[in-house]
Amino acid sequence: MLIIDGSDLSKQKILVTAALPYANGPIHLGHLSGAYLPADIYVRYNRLKGNDILFICGSDEHGAPITISADKEGVNPKVIIDRYHQINKEAFEKFGMSFDIYSRTSLPIHHDTGKEFFLEFYKRGLLKQKKTEQFYDLSAQMFLPDRYVEGTCPNCGYEEARSDECEKCGALYEPSELKNPKSKISGSTPILKETTHWYFPLGEFQPRLEKYVEEMNAKYGWKENVLNYCKSWFKAGLQDRAVTRDLDWGVSVPLDDATGKVLYVWFEAVLGYISATKELSQKLNKPDLWKEYWQGGDTKYIAFIGKDNVVFHCIVFPAMLMAWNDGDKSKYILPQNVPANEFLNFEGKKFSKSRQWGVDVDEFLRLFPADSLRYTLAANLPETRDTDFYWKEFQARNNSELADILGNFVNRTFTFVHKHFDGIVPTKADVEKIDADMIKLLADYPFKISAYYESFKLRDGVLETMNLARACNKYFNDSEPWKTIKTEREKCGTTLNICLQAIYTLAELFSPVIPFSSEKIFKMLNKEKINWDNSGEENLPAGHQLNESEILFSKIEDSVIQNQIDKLYANSVFTNTDSEAGQITIEYFNKIELKTAEIIAAEKVERSDKLVKLKLNLGNKTRQVVAGIAKSYSPESLIGKKVVVVANLKPAKLMGLDSEGMILAVEATDGKLNLIDPGTSAANGTRVK
Ligand code: MF3
Ligand code: ZN
Repeated sequence: MLIIDGSDLSKQKILVTAALPYANGPIHLGHLSGAYLPADIYVRYNRLKGNDILFICGSDEHGAPITISADKEGVNPKVIIDRYHQINKEAFEKFGMSFDIYSRTSLPIHHDTGKEFFLEFYKRGLLKQKKTEQFYDLSAQMFLPDRYVEGTCPNCGYEEARSDECEKCGALYEPSELKNPKSKISGSTPILKETTHWYFPLGEFQPRLEKYVEEMNAKYGWKENVLNYCKSWFKAGLQDRAVTRDLDWGVSVPLDDATGKVLYVWFEAVLGYISATKELSQKLNKPDLWKEYWQGGDTKYIAFIGKDNVVFHCIVFPAMLMAWNDGDKSKYILPQNVPANEFLNFEGKKFSKSRQWGVDVDEFLRLFPADSLRYTLAANLPETRDTDFYWKEFQARNNSELADILGNFVNRTFTFVHKHFDGIVPTKADVEKIDADMIKLLADYPFKISAYYESFKLRDGVLETMNLARACNKYFNDSEPWKTIKTEREKCGTTLNICLQAIYTLAELFSPVIPFSSEKIFKMLNKEKINWDNSGEENLPAGHQLNESEILFSKIEDSVIQNQIDKLYANSVFTNTDSEAGQITIEYFNKIELKTAEIIAAEKVERSDKLVKLKLNLGNKTRQVVAGIAKSYSPESLIGKKVVVVANLKPAKLMGLDSEGMILAVEATDGKLNLIDPGTSAANGTRVK
């Protein structure tokens, strides 16, 4: 039997990190689903297994995201990081994140760690110094980071392209090739000025990195999505990467000839995991503790992140650690697994601060219990593909799973035992098949859930845990204790004894997911947690006194959910009033005025091979519509045709011509368009419904 104490040989040292969120704004539900909730479930599970865990996180307080937010508000970056560090730290606490430390990269201990790595590489001659030309804002007197310059893409003409990369067509180019560059700070045209930076030779590490990823995957089974991201980076070929920037906010470059330069945020942020562990060691008065984890060969290191961070955690950070380990100082361990998640969307669209689409954690938790959110997010983690948060699904998970299945089982059992057995665990007498099956199920369950959690299938683990609660309700129903209490009190006692053991198992197995509710259940049971592996055994002796029961989950009313949906649409730039993804209400559909019309004139639009200018008869009026059907219809063939037109479309200009509507067509497999034919019997201008 495994017991939680230091002597247990199977105890494993595990270092778990969760991506350090930028302290430039409040975290939202997407962040929680991507990295933090999975990390917390994994950590809590491993603590119950008796493993020796360190769980590290903190704020990422440097880089352009911070300075851009500061510029927008016209304040010092310090104001921004202090504000959001505090807000996010508190939001994480309320959400039940069980970090051992939530540190910050602005601390001296972190600056020292960043500089130490840089200098180690510098002294060993690993870093290449290169001259480049970079945009410089003369009026603001500063070099402009990539995100501070906008211009026209030299490849596709997109007007909001970044200085070295076009979001629209994906082209990569030298900043000097960008057309029409504008500084986002002053709006002026920046000049190109020579600057010097230090480059980390990432390309040289490619063979070793490929081997590392392959080996880790072979041994520990990396996630498919993560492997694919790595493969595409390898395929494109790794390049030298500048590890310094011309900025006045960040970890300064520890060289004499480097004034005004800081370490590139990603170079130092990943080291934040190490410096945060150092800070924790100091706080615990064990200054060398961090080495046991970071430099102990028997520690396994798991890094939880969202998909946008894969390259930094599977390629850049491991390369930095390899480079360090090539020297003669104590060696670091590398991530054993990086179970990155895809993204969570919100009501069918991407979270967006500027469009006011989404909800902050802090705001959410003022309205609803953390466990309801944790369970809903956990049941729908974007582990293999992007998923969505829907308010209605949140309500359904809370009401019909947490309350109606788990809450109901616990409640009916406690009520029954308090009523008929004075709140004392009844004796288990002779067991019948139904009881023996239940006992076996409980005994097996911790191992079943372990298998999911160990392989980072957290979502399946959580859903499977709820299935146990379902099975428990069925056992209660099938055993009919309300009947046996009258005729076979002993048998009834056996049923309730097993139900109470099951509640213990559920409290334990659910505790990584809904820790607050689990605590309540343990309190009601008048018992403490136990080692995970033993939680399916009979842990409550007959005669054990239970405490009074508490309400575990309250139902969420329709009106409360509708309020949230209304508020979302009222505040966001999206005016749609639908609530389900991709679905619209009949009222919404009715806003679209579809009408029949007849084409009375048609001519080709000059200099366009797609567009035709049409004149439509809508009964009492005529309209000009420019339609992209020239490749499918000659102008002559169109005259006299009946069509369906969207009559209340906002007028637009196409090739300089007014277009007041849109005609409907279907694209055939060969790309040819076929106009929708309303038939000849309807009068022009008839509403299509
Ligand atoms: N701040 C980054 C983000 O929010 C994540 C940094 S993770 C670290 O995307 F490892 F670099 F710290
Ligand atoms: Zn482009």
